[in-house]
Amino acid sequence: MNPGDGGSIATMCGIAGYIGPRNAVEVVLDQLKRLEYRGYDSAGVAYPANGHIEVLKRAGKLTELKKLVDEVPRDSRIAIAHSRWATHGGPTNENAHPHYDAYERIAIIHNGIIENYLDLREELLAKGHKFRSQTDTEVAAHVIGEEYTEGVPLEEAVRKGVKRLRGAYALVVLSQHEKGKIVAARNASPLVLGIGAGENLLASDIPALLPYTREVVVLEENNIAMITLDNVSIMDLDGREQPVKPIHIEWDIAAAERGGYDHFMLKEIHEQPEVLRQCLAGRIDDNYQVRLEQVFSEHVWTEIDRVNIIACGTAYNAGLMGKHLFEKLLRLPTDVYYSSEFRYGDPVLSPKSLAIFVSQSGETADTLAALRLCKSRRIRTLGVVNVIGSSIARECDRTIFTQAGPEISVASTKAYTAQVTVLTLLAMYIAQVQEMPGVRVEEAVAELSGLAAKADECLKLEPQMIELATQFKDMPLCFFLGRGADANVALEGALKLKEIAYIPTQESPAGEMKHGPLALVQPGVIAVFGSTDPETRDKVVSSMKEIQARGGTVIAVVTEDDTVTERAADAIIRIPASKLGFLSALLTIIPMQLFAYHIARLRGCEIDQPRNLAKSVTVE
Ligand code: F6R
Repeated sequence: MNPGDGGSIATMCGIAGYIGPRNAVEVVLDQLKRLEYRGYDSAGVAYPANGHIEVLKRAGKLTELKKLVDEVPRDSRIAIAHSRWATHGGPTNENAHPHYDAYERIAIIHNGIIENYLDLREELLAKGHKFRSQTDTEVAAHVIGEEYTEGVPLEEAVRKGVKRLRGAYALVVLSQHEKGKIVAARNASPLVLGIGAGENLLASDIPALLPYTREVVVLEENNIAMITLDNVSIMDLDGREQPVKPIHIEWDIAAAERGGYDHFMLKEIHEQPEVLRQCLAGRIDDNYQVRLEQVFSEHVWTEIDRVNIIACGTAYNAGLMGKHLFEKLLRLPTDVYYSSEFRYGDPVLSPKSLAIFVSQSGETADTLAALRLCKSRRIRTLGVVNVIGSSIARECDRTIFTQAGPEISVASTKAYTAQVTVLTLLAMYIAQVQEMPGVRVEEAVAELSGLAAKADECLKLEPQMIELATQFKDMPLCFFLGRGADANVALEGALKLKEIAYIPTQESPAGEMKHGPLALVQPGVIAVFGSTDPETRDKVVSSMKEIQARGGTVIAVVTEDDTVTERAADAIIRIPASKLGFLSALLTIIPMQLFAYHIARLRGCEIDQPRNLAKSVTVE
């Protein structure tokens, strides 16, 4: 099995299921414990007891659920459990999984996002359904429950039910009437089955299976699985039986947590296509219109005269990409501030301005302080945050979540692409609500929706990046250069290399070289250029020549249609072009991340926890 097969996709939540001779409640809680490293905000378990399905759930850490479970002895031969990373609805007891259908005959747990849940919810409300939570999962439970009529086996009800759902999901269902089976369905969210001796299991990720079995089946897209005590069967959405193909997993548990990758950073780099899909899920409709429910009402956007984006580190670099787009696409004046500078800078703030706070963790002390400063001045605030329930997410007037899943490596990768994607979506949303003449929103949104596939292509550059990393791992200094949006991405490329490989970097817009930094160029120095904009291509080529003339070596990251730069560069990396040039620039970060990662690996650095750095900077 290769790294990434089934175990490495950006799962937001943990799924566990067990049927066998052991105490199933204990087994599924143990399975969840093994997924704890990915973070979560609530957890729950379901098992059959006294003629119904008992559901126990709690907001907070797994220990909270464990306390509840331990109140009385619980014993069952079958159970399912879930740990949640909230996407729809906050992390509360009600919103935690499992969820019942309307008649409490089935309980379900779910990873992913049901995109059409609002339409389905309305349809069900009109039929008299009542909901206990705000989640898309409960809607899915009611849909499957509707199909679970007299004489219909559970797997059939699930098959019919999932055909009505749109979006990404891994669903697991337990019924009070059929206590000998667990049924699961997968579409774009991972689900793995574990084949044991006289017991069977399922989970969202392989580490949750390994203490029990090493024979694993990765459920394919759009397939439905049924596990019983002594059998595992799979069918497709048309009910046709599918082969069950177990693979033997050799990884140790730590490697399995990393999806078989050597480091979380590499896993997270590889998750980016999936993250882009998750980030856009439910936010783009079939007509390429943006749907952002969490933001201000439409009239607010016509009032805003200025945007300030405030963030630190990688999130600041993402903010620069936001500025580029807000100004180019919307002609909306935008400034980007380091949070630490903003909070002490006595900023001049227009009362009609919007302050956007970009943060993966949602806990960065300087960004939080800057947010509080804006609130005290009664400025509208909007968060672009990854961690639900975090301080910045809670304190902003509105928050758009990046939906990138937990980021464990200290060096941020997938959070950056998700932050830029959310800022792009937001710019397109503003253009849409303002009906801006001259902005072709549908075309731009269509390009955005094709970004994940292009990110997949960029990952295929890894062998080439390994070669370059091997060649240049001992360089004394690395420049990262570009113009326009490429110059913004250059800052992020440089940050990755310095923080994990400890190689000094010099990053700036290429046009600035002559004004000072060029003095640093000498033989042995490498310059990585992003050059995706045909309009500035010739100028970038001139900058490359200036570096080569002084003994420097040039690596150019260009779009596949560029036939000019290859004649100038010493090494050329080709990424797919997007019609929205800004997105081509964004894609160049993927080879740069891989370059930094492989250099750090070859230099023997501690990649996931670089020296002197912490994942969440909660002090000044
Ligand atoms: C760099 C990195 C940091 C963070 C910065 C802000 O790889 O991860 O520069 O981007 O500390 O953190 P958040 O986004 O949590 O506010």
